[in-house]
Amino acid sequence: MILSMKPERQQPSQTPAKYAQCNVPKQTRTPTKYGVYPSLRSRVVIVTGGASGIGERMVEAFAEQGSRVVFLDIQSEPAERLARKIKKRHLEEPYFVQCDLTDTAALRASIEQIISKFTTVDVLVNNAGNDARHTVDEVTSEYWDQAIAANLKHQFFAAQAVIPAMKRARRGSIVNMSSISWIIPSTRLPVYVTAKAGIVGMTRTLAHELGADNIRVNCVLPGAILTERQKQLWFTKEYEAEVLRNQALKRMIVPEEVARLVLFLAADDSSAITSQSCVIDAGWV
Ligand SMILES: NC(=O)c1ccc[n+]([C@@H]2O[C@H](COP(=O)([O-])OP(=O)(O)OC[C@H]3O[C@@H](n4cnc5c(N)ncnc54)[C@H](O)[C@@H]3O)[C@@H](O)[C@H]2O)c1
Repeated sequence: MILSMKPERQQPSQTPAKYAQCNVPKQTRTPTKYGVYPSLRSRVVIVTGGASGIGERMVEAFAEQGSRVVFLDIQSEPAERLARKIKKRHLEEPYFVQCDLTDTAALRASIEQIISKFTTVDVLVNNAGNDARHTVDEVTSEYWDQAIAANLKHQFFAAQAVIPAMKRARRGSIVNMSSISWIIPSTRLPVYVTAKAGIVGMTRTLAHELGADNIRVNCVLPGAILTERQKQLWFTKEYEAEVLRNQALKRMIVPEEVARLVLFLAADDSSAITSQSCVIDAGWV
């Protein structure tokens, strides 16, 4: 159930009894004009690639829900800035772990460290990715391995590392970031597109591997999302015109909108949704 968020006017009688007893610090009841998910309060949420872009907004959105957020990223400076910003808002400060996710041993050690600190993991958002442009001719064997490691491999190994804790808790939600790039006629990033298609298959098989333990696995397929990196590197007037021509909605999508879908998939509100590919592309595909 989604409670409408107007905390200052909310009537106690509107709060379901099972949530009314949640022991949540007052400051985590936070201003958002969108849905509040009581089931996300105090849950331990890991977001990979949370220092910038869509992941940055996810980290903040989970903090607004009162979740205990841990984020991994290779970049420490924007990560620390984000943690400070969230703390300043009197939300629970997220816990940052610097990690190159393409280093599987480091990824495993980071998740072990998180589990020993927080004892469990309720939600894993496999968000990090790298959409560096490349032509077919430029792809060497080493480039292939590196791009698959940056876009696909870490999602599997992060899931593998949190599964024992989720099985012990007999619940969990894993959300993998894919993309519509393998459905639309994309060019100039063939290994990225291959990885993003692979994520859909991985999501479906993991959902069936883990469903008996009440662990849900879904993936999100964004269209063109207006992040800082997209603005700096790829966003031109021509690209914008192409996006708007293809979308049903004639405006760009912002990270906040993707974060809201991820919150829903992470929360118990989506308790019967697993093995799905959720497209958020303003009607492109
Ligand atoms: N922005 C879009 O239009 C769009 C569209 C479709 C899918 N996606 C997917 O959404 C996810 C987030 O995309 P974004 O646009 O926010 O990306 P972004 O590049 O803005 O942010 C990615 C974050 O991941 C981190 N990261 C990258 N490689 C890492 C590594 N090896 N180890 C640790 N951290 C690493 C970066 O430092 C960065 O903070 C990605 O999986 C991307 O493929 C984005």
